[in-house]
Amino acid sequence: MDKILILDFGSQSTQLIGRRIRQLGVYSEIVPGDIRFEAIDLRDVRGVILSGSPFSVYETGAPRADRRIYDAGMPLLGICYGFQSMSADYGGSVASLGSKEYGRARIELLERTALFARVPGDSFVSWMSHGDSVTEAPAGFRVIARSENGLAAAFANEERRMWGVQFHPEASHCEHGQRILEAFALDICGARAEWNMESFLRIESDRLRRTVGQKDVVLLISGGVDSCVVAALLLRSLDPERVHLMYIDTGLMRDGESQEVMRNLADLGARHLHCVDASEEFYAGLAGVTDPEKKRRVIGDLFITVQEARITELGIRDSFLAQGTLYTDLVESGKGVGSKAKIIKTHHNVRSPLVEAKRAQGRIIEPLSSLYKDEVRELGSALGLSTDVVQRHPFPGPGLAVRVLGEVNREKCDLLRAADAIFISELRRRGFYDRIWQAFCVLLPIRSVGVSGDMRRYGHVLALRAVASLDAITADVYPLPMADLLEISSLITNRVPEIGRVVYDISSKPPATIEWE
Ligand code: XMP
Repeated sequence: MDKILILDFGSQSTQLIGRRIRQLGVYSEIVPGDIRFEAIDLRDVRGVILSGSPFSVYETGAPRADRRIYDAGMPLLGICYGFQSMSADYGGSVASLGSKEYGRARIELLERTALFARVPGDSFVSWMSHGDSVTEAPAGFRVIARSENGLAAAFANEERRMWGVQFHPEASHCEHGQRILEAFALDICGARAEWNMESFLRIESDRLRRTVGQKDVVLLISGGVDSCVVAALLLRSLDPERVHLMYIDTGLMRDGESQEVMRNLADLGARHLHCVDASEEFYAGLAGVTDPEKKRRVIGDLFITVQEARITELGIRDSFLAQGTLYTDLVESGKGVGSKAKIIKTHHNVRSPLVEAKRAQGRIIEPLSSLYKDEVRELGSALGLSTDVVQRHPFPGPGLAVRVLGEVNREKCDLLRAADAIFISELRRRGFYDRIWQAFCVLLPIRSVGVSGDMRRYGHVLALRAVASLDAITADVYPLPMADLLEISSLITNRVPEIGRVVYDISSKPPATIEWE
């Protein structure tokens, strides 16, 4: 299958470039930016994209492409750092100027080369994120677009079939970005659009069979769409007798979730379904813990202890470990991206010692790690999962523990579960659920005074959260109509009398995050 090779220099948007190429129906493969030329399988590669990076071109340790890739005769497109490093490699100049560009910047096309052939008009609003700039194009390269701030926005060397852009065509805010990538992949590289979910399924199934051979695979099921899709993929690709699905009931799940998950997995044809009720252990471990990261650590450690004990009990220690990790989980945990990426929240399912150990042994399977949530949903549908499972809002690994602020116990979780079930069922009934990325309730660690039936009440405060997002990396508040919020609030306070006050969270991400902890 024709493919576009993406050299990853550590930018958070490298995977987004891959996704945009897939949206064109073209297969793409991401490899480390400094990969040695010999290690690349050039068969089927029709073009190369050099990604952005948190590094500065002249910084020590800054990753650079193996020069032989430039000479392999394939078209190249450098994006942001890729543009700058290409420039530096060919003798141009890059410098950190006073004017830096972040966000929207209008650019003017000076020349309509093949890269801009699909762009209508002579100017458009691009998306920039750079401190350094190309101050002088290398010999043989012509600046073909300039930003409103007078900086080089793109260059070309048509003879060598090399292009570079300072802006990020992959960003959804970049006007005509997809047309530029389309011009590169389809027109300039001539790559054929042969990729779709069916071919992903074929490629991944083959890869799984080759990797796993006759060994057992254990998959820890969280109940969310990602692990259910991996379960379906494993059951479809491997001998179901070899697939062990383990679900740990932490007591931190949503209302009715455990039963629903078990039903779904049984429907998928699972032969070995291990449901472990560990709620007492989790509540005990969380007693007295209020710090969010500590909660995550306690939960992560308990997951491992419970999971390992069960794996030993079942005699399947020599197994592969499968995970429903998505690319965005890796980003949030500071993995899979540049070494300067920061940890925002520790996702235990990415960093656990068991996972690290299995990774070191080459015994980890993460078939979804290059996909975005909507692609996972599409894959889930292709695997025959029900719409309810596929369209379910994401749920964090530590579950309700990060939605009960302060100390967690069964009583507070029960309250939260009851309120959350009302909120979610109302969103479904009112037709909002499928338009929202994620909605949930948060139980705040404060009480407030109220009155009912002439009696003073000193009740809990509950926050409602509903956000719109494409990948959870950024999120906007979902503008629920006030009339619906008022009705939902009164339903909650009437049915869950311990809750005396309801507030709506109106913070976007950034600067807030989706979950409160
Ligand atoms: P934040 O709160 O960081 O969340 O904006 C981004 C997305 O990740 C989910 N989330 C988690 N998922 N383990 C997970 O598997 C975790 O520890 C975790 N923490 C947050 C969150 O629900 C949102 O979809």
